[in-house]
Amino acid sequence: MTKKEVIENCFAFLLAGYETTSTAMTYCSYLLAKYPEIQKKLWQEIKLVKNEGTLDYDSIHSMKYLDAVYKETLRYYPPVIHFISRTCLSDITIRGQFYPKGCSVTVQGNTIHRSESNWDHPDIFDPDRFLAENTEATEKSTNLKWIPFGVGPRFCVGMRFAEMEFKMTIAKLIDKFELRIPMGEMDLIPDCNGVIMRPKDARAEPILIFSSIKVGPPIRPTSENHNAQHETYKKY
Ligand code: HEM
Repeated sequence: MTKKEVIENCFAFLLAGYETTSTAMTYCSYLLAKYPEIQKKLWQEIKLVKNEGTLDYDSIHSMKYLDAVYKETLRYYPPVIHFISRTCLSDITIRGQFYPKGCSVTVQGNTIHRSESNWDHPDIFDPDRFLAENTEATEKSTNLKWIPFGVGPRFCVGMRFAEMEFKMTIAKLIDKFELRIPMGEMDLIPDCNGVIMRPKDARAEPILIFSSIKVGPPIRPTSENHNAQHETYKKY
């Protein structure tokens, strides 16, 4: 590899690995704040695990409900869209659709994830659909209907790291804080900046994204959030 290629790859990793995961965790925080009963169920699982030990690599992986919340968050709001593209290597017709050699085919995760032909009640946020006993959903997550990280030999190389980062951060957050959305707060509107689908008007800095969903007192108050209620609730 040339020095230029090394620099380019480091840059790609930095871009691919930062905004994706932070956006996924932002969505998850918002959804847990919006659905307190789901947040409570997750907190109860965290409490159980902590009663038997600590939140670490092994225990985090044993948490079935956390896994379901993780998968359902990425189904409901896949952060990366417009990026799963492949070049067609030869003329081919699939289900009556002709694809000429050389054309670029893009698969949009958000469309696949919200299609009624793939998921029951796709617009409902329901982590239970991913619980192990629900085998149908578990199968769906592996048969091209759950593709937040893409598919095939060029799927996301950071997937395992992202999963660990997401689960560890969310578990530690919910262990210590109860997330709530203040009365009157508008619903989150996802917006696409070209590749990443993230909350509309959220700034690139994570601190501002978090303050926009009112997780505790804002670190840098803005004119919009100045009058809003901000509360941080300690669980213990
Ligand atoms: C929730 C977090 C993440 C999501 C949703 C995500 C999603 C994706 C998607 C959809 C692709 C395209 C896959 C395809 O075309 O089939 C991709 C590729 C890639 N991702 Fe991620 N990603 C995440 C986190 C990360 C992290 C943490 C890293 C690195 C530390 C990373 C590095 C990459 C790289 C290098 C590629 C290009 C792989 C290639 O072209 O062979 N991603 N990611």
